[in-house]
Amino acid sequence: MRYAKLCVLAVCTSFGHAEADHELDDRDLAIGEHLYLQHCATCHGKNLEGQPNWRQPGQDGALPAPPHDVNGHTWHHDNQLLFDYTNLGGQAALSAKGVTGFASGMPGFRGALSDSEIWNILAFIRSTWPQEIKDVQSARNPQH
Ligand code: HEC
Repeated sequence: MRYAKLCVLAVCTSFGHAEADHELDDRDLAIGEHLYLQHCATCHGKNLEGQPNWRQPGQDGALPAPPHDVNGHTWHHDNQLLFDYTNLGGQAALSAKGVTGFASGMPGFRGALSDSEIWNILAFIRSTWPQEIKDVQSARNPQH
């Protein structure tokens, strides 16, 4: 928390680009929820519960959609990875990191959703987590 305050005052406002954990701050959670229900809930669940047996690959070798609630692993990842995964889709986001040969069922939303719409959705997802999970996820982001 102390970092966040210092950063807002000293660094982020002057340079305007996000290097720390600010991408999810001050987002529109109501819009995020609305967009989540529209674009993500069919696979990730209306209550962020994911698909049944989400740890078990299907016949095509691809994993089902995991939950975005605390039972899943969304909170294990930093903001940028979550953004890239949503923007580019699983396959492209992973191959950009050098991971190939992984069949991902996660489609990319670039073109369908703007950057700020994606951040609103991710902020909505984060807003459903208890504080200690939020803190763990925050700590995964690079700090100044
Ligand atoms: C057609 C079904 C489908 C839709 C629609 C969909 N996803 Fe996914 N998503 C998946 C699947 C399947 C995976 C797991 C496979 C993988 O990890 O590549 C996944 C994985 C993810 C992951 C990485 C795993 C994690 O929890 O960290 C994120 C982040 C994600 N989805 C976000 C979203 C968001 C945000 C939306 C809505 C804008 C969305 N997804 C819509 C199927 C979908």
